[in-house]
Amino acid sequence: MMARYAHIVGWGMSLPERVMTNDDWAQLVDTSDEWIRSRTGIVERRIAEEGETTLTLSLEAAQRALDVAKVSPAQVDLIIVATATPEHIFPSTASLVQDRLGATKAGAYDLSAGCSGFVYALAQAADSVRAGSCQHVLVIGAETLSRIVDWTDRDTCVLFGDGAGAVVVSGSEMPGGILSSVLGSDGSGGDHLIVPAGGSKLPASYETVEQGLHYARMNGREVFRFATRTMDKATRQACAKANVALTDVNLLVPHQANTRIIKSAARSLKLDDERVFSNIDRYGNTSAASIPIALVEAIEDGRVHRNDYLVLVGFGAGLTWAATVVQWGVPLPVKPAPWYLRMFRWLYYRWARVRSWGARQRRRAEDMLPFNGRNGYHRNGKSPALPPAPAKPDEREDKLEREDEKEPVAEGEQR
Ligand code: ACO
Repeated sequence: MMARYAHIVGWGMSLPERVMTNDDWAQLVDTSDEWIRSRTGIVERRIAEEGETTLTLSLEAAQRALDVAKVSPAQVDLIIVATATPEHIFPSTASLVQDRLGATKAGAYDLSAGCSGFVYALAQAADSVRAGSCQHVLVIGAETLSRIVDWTDRDTCVLFGDGAGAVVVSGSEMPGGILSSVLGSDGSGGDHLIVPAGGSKLPASYETVEQGLHYARMNGREVFRFATRTMDKATRQACAKANVALTDVNLLVPHQANTRIIKSAARSLKLDDERVFSNIDRYGNTSAASIPIALVEAIEDGRVHRNDYLVLVGFGAGLTWAATVVQWGVPLPVKPAPWYLRMFRWLYYRWARVRSWGARQRRRAEDMLPFNGRNGYHRNGKSPALPPAPAKPDEREDKLEREDEKEPVAEGEQR
C-alpha cells in the first residue's frame, strides 16, 4: 500500500465586526492603553455581537476553508471543533456545524484542550487521515471568550477576543504535510486557568452566579512562567520527531497570548522576527482560534511557500501544550473557486438548511402519531419485549417458604 500523508489543503477564518480597543476597555475598568500594550502587545480585539456565537463563527470559517480546498461538505468524513466556549455543553458545536454544512456523512465532536485545542485537533485529524479511516477532515478552532470573562475583572477581560479559524486536512500520496505532533498535559496546574462552575462539580446555581464562579479565572504569572518553558520545549520536541532542524524552520506560528511570551520563545529558539508570525495586536488572545487565525493570515500575507517548514505551537488551560511540524504542500496563492462552484455551494448550504428543517418537522410529526413509542407500543405496531413482571406477594411468600425447607448447608461446604 502507498504511504498516506496528511496535508492542509484549505483554510479560512471568521472574525466579528465589532472592534474593541484598549481605550474602550479603559472606560470600563481601571486600566490603560499603555499598560495593556506594554504588558501584552494587544492593541484591539474583536468582540462577538448578539447573534454571533461560536457556531456562526465556526460555520463561516469552515465554509471558507472548504471553498479553498474545493472539497464539498458531502465529502467530509470528520469534523472536530476545538473550543473552550462551545455553543452548549451538549450537543457538540461540531454536530451543529455538521448539520448546517450538510456534511451528511461526517462524524463530529468537540475537543477541549484550552488554547492548545486546535493543535490537538490537527494531530487527531492527521492520524485519522494517515490511518486511512478518513480522507477529508475539517478542523476548526473557535471561541467566544467574551461570553465567559468577567467584564469587571481587569486581570482577564482585556486579554481575550473572539473569532474562528478552520482548515481542511486531506489524505494524499505526496510526501510532506503534517509531519509530527507533540501533545502534553499537566493537570496539576488545572487551577491556574479555570471556569470553576457550570460543570458536574459546581452546577450552575444562584450562588455560583452570584459569586461569579462561571467566569474564567487565571493566575497570569503562573501561566506566563509555564508558557515560556513549554513553547520552547514542545517546539524542539516536534522538530526532533519530524527530523527537521530548528535552523530549517521557515515560520513559527505560536499561540497568540502575549507578545512577551512569543518573543521569549523566539529568543530561546534563536528565530528572528521574520520567522515568527504574530497578530496579537489586532485580535488579542482568541484561545483555540488563535493559531488557525494566525496561520490563515500568514498564508494570505505571503509568509508561507510550498515546501516551507512551519511549526504551530500552543499552550493553555489543562494545563496543556501541543506542537506540530508541517511541510507545506499546496502551491500558493490558490485560485479562487469559479463562480458556478460558489453558486453551487450557496445552493448546497440552503439545501442543508431545508433538509435540517425537514428532519425537525418529521420528528415533530412522528411525535404526534398514535403508536409513536409511548405507552409501550412501537411505531411498527409490535409491543416491545417487556421485563418480567415482579412476582405477586403470595407467590413471593411461597418461594421464601420453599427456600426455608431446603437442607441447611454446613459451614465451609459449598452448595
Ligand atoms: N490594567 C492595569 N493593571 C493591571 C491589569 C490591567 N488590565 N491587569 C493586571 N494589572 C495589575 C495587577 O493587578 C498587578 O498589580 P499589583 O502589582 O498592584 O498587584 C500588576 O498589574 C502586575 O500584574 P502581573 O500579573 O505581574 O502582570 P504581568 O506582567 O504578569 O502581566 C498578564 C499579566 C498579561 C496576564 C501575563 O501574566 C500573561 O500574559 N500571562 C499569560 C496569560 C496567558 O497566556 N493565558 C493563555 C491561556 S488562555 C486559555 O487557555 C483559555
